[in-house]
Amino acid sequence: MFVTLEGVEGSGKSTQIERLCASLNAAGRPVTLTRQPGGCELGRTLRAILLSQKSSGLDDRAELFLYLADRAQHVAEVIRPALESGQVVVCDRYIDSTVAYQGYGRGLDVALLTRLNAVAVAGVLPDLTILLDLDAAAGLSRAMARNHAAGTAASEGRFEAEHLDFHTRVRRGYLALAAAHPQRFVVIDAAPVPELVARAVWQAVSARLGG
Ligand code: TYD
Repeated sequence: MFVTLEGVEGSGKSTQIERLCASLNAAGRPVTLTRQPGGCELGRTLRAILLSQKSSGLDDRAELFLYLADRAQHVAEVIRPALESGQVVVCDRYIDSTVAYQGYGRGLDVALLTRLNAVAVAGVLPDLTILLDLDAAAGLSRAMARNHAAGTAASEGRFEAEHLDFHTRVRRGYLALAAAHPQRFVVIDAAPVPELVARAVWQAVSARLGG
């Protein structure tokens, strides 16, 4: 089973993914936890470029192709083999991030992005996508606080530096994707305390595991 988690900056994905993997382990399910960008060696190099403030001059289309290159290699090297060996794969961001950020955020053509995503993943599609939905302003202030505490503002702040209306468009994009793919998406309100969000995430995943 292939599960992806999506959401705006500061929606709590990292915390929820950790909890989800702990629950899967406790249920005796072997898990591969991975992420995009940066889930394979090539991806780690690309991630450093993509998230660096130094890349502020990166052309939108160049940025797009770096995310797609990361995705293609990551699917071939990590995700497909793990799924074939019977693992549950949990991926922090996947195809929907490209549509939300490069499509709704940057303004690239969504239909084109959908086709390019299909080329990159070569048929490896999520069985379940959990959207941790949060107001963009609330998410941004959480992300800023986290970066400040971790001292990562300078190295990993390129997207956090975007204006609020960019993140508002990203959120709108996610909600549009969820509405367009109701079978695949479960939308969870990310505003409550982490324990409550984790419960909702586990409910969504365990329902699919059982089915
Ligand atoms: P990450 O540190 O994973 O962000 P977060 O902690 O918020 O999940 O950084 C990934 C960034 O890359 C994030 O801002 C979203 C962006 N992104 C895209 O713009 N397009 C994509 O296809 C992917 C996978 C990520």
